Amino acid sequence: MFKSRAMTTVWISALAVGAAVVLGGGAVTQAVAERTAGVETAGMINRDPGQIAGPDACAECHENEHRVWMESAHEADAKVLSRDPEAKRIAKVLGVRRIKTDAKCAGCHFTSKENESGKLRSIAGVSCESCHSASASWIDPHAQFGADAESAEDESAQHRADRLSYCDSMGMVRPDRLYELASACYSCHAITDQELIHTAGHPAGTEFEFASWSQGDLRHNFTRAGADANPVSAISRQRVMFLVGAAVRLESACRAVAIGAPAETISGAIDHLRRVDQAVTIDAVSSLIEIGEGVASGGDAAGAVERIRAIGVRIAAERVGEGLDQIDALIPGAYSSEGR
Ligand code: HEC
Ligand code: HEC
Ligand code: HEC
Ligand code: HEC
Repeated sequence: MFKSRAMTTVWISALAVGAAVVLGGGAVTQAVAERTAGVETAGMINRDPGQIAGPDACAECHENEHRVWMESAHEADAKVLSRDPEAKRIAKVLGVRRIKTDAKCAGCHFTSKENESGKLRSIAGVSCESCHSASASWIDPHAQFGADAESAEDESAQHRADRLSYCDSMGMVRPDRLYELASACYSCHAITDQELIHTAGHPAGTEFEFASWSQGDLRHNFTRAGADANPVSAISRQRVMFLVGAAVRLESACRAVAIGAPAETISGAIDHLRRVDQAVTIDAVSSLIEIGEGVASGGDAAGAVERIRAIGVRIAAERVGEGLDQIDALIPGAYSSEGR
């Protein structure tokens, strides 16, 4: 009884915290907000430094995930970035004095957290909440299974449904929400800032692919398998991830066009979809190509963003992966930093 009351309190107070800042404020997210000014930001991941718990808080229960993450490029490379001569050179061109805290770099390379006195500190590289969203409003409830339930196995179906929909409404980016998850990746991996690339000579980025890049070094599929196993995702799931990734890639390119990048910025995303279309006929893919072609020939890019998102979210929800084996040959193998 006491337990259940305590839980209700947490949910309600979290609702109050979460509601005010679902889209996030703060200096770091502001950089993203500025880049997307004028484009609808619904669905943007919340990385408000005031709502970040930090990876150590997750590690209390997710020890395996934390270990994998520590060794991934997201954390390991960030540790040495500030001393990297190339990073220093790029920073100097842009007048950045502290790579770890300046939003111009930290927004994509680090996790910023606000301390009690309101000061921003860089606490880690790209970490759990960079992809799963700032957790203040969902960290407790996502791991509470009901009054008498110690673990997810004891949880009632109704409680589970309520818990997950609550976490979703708080912006938690769960593995079920593939479109939002892929959008999180693209918010950093689509490097479209012309000043960063052309003036400062920052790498334009290797061509990103959501399914394969999720299955390599950063993979941490422990909870679904139980114990210490970390299996790659089922091929039917990878197909959905691949299609969702292709949609997000197009959305991300349209966003860039909407804020001034040249229209040909989206040609790579359209070609990628055309290759899928040649392998198998999927209505959603045909629609995406049509929308992309509209933008390539000067159509409304900001409007396209919303239409693409609606299609992509539907692809994720309908889990169309079963039976689409024609796609398999297009999905690159699991990405490994070693193999580059
Ligand atoms: C008090 C323990 C605890 C803490 C702290 C914790 N988690 Fe969890 N988390 C769990 C448990 C237990 C589950 C499995 C829930 C289930 O089976 O549905 C879980 C599941 C998840 C899932 C998968 C949800 C899904 O829909 O499959 C994600 C993502 C996640 N946690 C992220 C995080 C992140 C990020 C943090 C830190 C900000 C964190 N967790 C902190 C216990 C915790
Ligand atoms: C829009 C997100 C974004 C911003 C902003 C950004 N970076 Fe990067 N940066 C990346 C990504 C993603 C990569 C990896 C590219 C790849 O391998 O595909 C990268 C790679 C690098 C590399 C290549 C070496 C390495 O560690 O892989 C350096 C150096 C670097 N960034 C420095 C900086 C500096 C300095 C700033 C600030 C002036 C900055 N970046 C801002 C996203 C960003
Ligand atoms: C907050 C920004 C951010 C987010 C979100 C993000 N990444 Fe990254 N990622 C980076 C940066 C920056 C690097 C380069 C790190 C470095 O080399 O310094 C990187 C590197 C990588 C690498 C290693 C690349 C290499 O050169 O070895 C992989 C794989 C990767 N990311 C996959 C993903 C996937 C999959 C997602 C989404 C599920 C994702 N990333 C989300 C910023 C981000
Ligand atoms: C670069 C983005 C990224 C980072 C950083 C990240 N995750 Fe994830 N996480 C993902 C993706 C993508 C999936 C789904 C992968 C799949 O289905 O193949 C996932 C899945 C999960 C799951 C569910 C696994 C399952 O078996 O279903 C949990 C739990 C989780 N993450 C927790 C964490 C914790 C805790 C951290 C930090 C220690 C973390 N994640 C860091 C992107 C990320």
